[in-house]
Amino acid sequence: KNATYILGIESSCDETAVAIVKDGKEIIANVVASQIESHKRFGGVVPEIASRHHVEQITIVLQEAMEQSGLTWDEIDAIAVTQGPGLVGALLIGVSAAKALAFAKHKPLVPVHHIAGHIYANRLLEELQFPLLALVVSGGHTELVLMKEHGQFELIGQTRDDAAGEAYDKVARMLDMPYPGGPQIDLLAAQGEENLTFPRAWLEQDSFDFSFSGLKSAVINTIHNAQQRGETLKKADIAASFQASVVEVLTEKTFNAAEKYQVKQVLIAGGVAANKGLRTSLENKFAGTGIPLLIPPIKFCTDNAAMIAAAGTIAYQQGRRAGLDLNANPSLPL
Ligand code: KG4
Ligand code: ZN
Repeated sequence: KNATYILGIESSCDETAVAIVKDGKEIIANVVASQIESHKRFGGVVPEIASRHHVEQITIVLQEAMEQSGLTWDEIDAIAVTQGPGLVGALLIGVSAAKALAFAKHKPLVPVHHIAGHIYANRLLEELQFPLLALVVSGGHTELVLMKEHGQFELIGQTRDDAAGEAYDKVARMLDMPYPGGPQIDLLAAQGEENLTFPRAWLEQDSFDFSFSGLKSAVINTIHNAQQRGETLKKADIAASFQASVVEVLTEKTFNAAEKYQVKQVLIAGGVAANKGLRTSLENKFAGTGIPLLIPPIKFCTDNAAMIAAAGTIAYQQGRRAGLDLNANPSLPL
């Protein structure tokens, strides 16, 4: 048998997901159970509810993935699981399931970092070229990661306060839009005009760090000031102006880092990578520069287990193993 089949499990936030990937590149099965509907009325993910849903869903999702794959347990080489970061109670369900499977089916257990997973989602589309730069933007992360080879991650910039997706979700709440707000702001922004001036947090010269809390405050203040003057601003204009600020900073810093490190590939990952404004802006910025930009389809941007199996394949091939004492780590470093 020449092929490597890795079963991946993801449960760090509000998706219960199991997938099987062949040789780190080819999806054999991919099942995601989303809990978004259950969290909507609370305006965000409620950790306790998330854990309960994971418990209910994990065996169903696992069975469905095995059926989809048509494989027998004999053919699975290892179990890869998201160890962190994420909600601890949510992570624990995936980690416990992975340990139980590894024990019962006599399979190696491979721990995976959630962000490594988001990055490796791109390998399901195209082979990675090193050195590469990844812009990871999600509800919990805003990071620029430099990779010089497989399995090595160098953090060259990160947010100092809110994550990009968090800023989207908070601004959406101010505009009375349901959770998750990112996709809705994205749609609304396309109908609005960038007629409000919001700050861009460039930080120190040459810094690849980000900051979105000032922008969030500026949006609140602008809405309040308008209310006091008896004006109502158009939601679409607020969305467009807010998105312009986020997208410009993400695009410029990604481009500057790509040039500085002379990378052979730039890729984007995480839920906010689904943002149309960001995708278009990066495409325009990199067009004609000779630096290839990889933009995954939206279903590979948001949380899934195929990305965990893809990252887990490299980790498995590099010999990474965990024992049955593996514990979830909500703040696992990359
Ligand atoms: O990667 P992900 O599914 O989960 C985390 O690991 O956080 O990312 C979810 C985040 C949420 O904040 C959501 O609002 C944001 O990604 N998001 C978007 C878009 N689609 C999802 N933000 C902006 N524009 C979008 N189209
Ligand atoms: Zn994620």
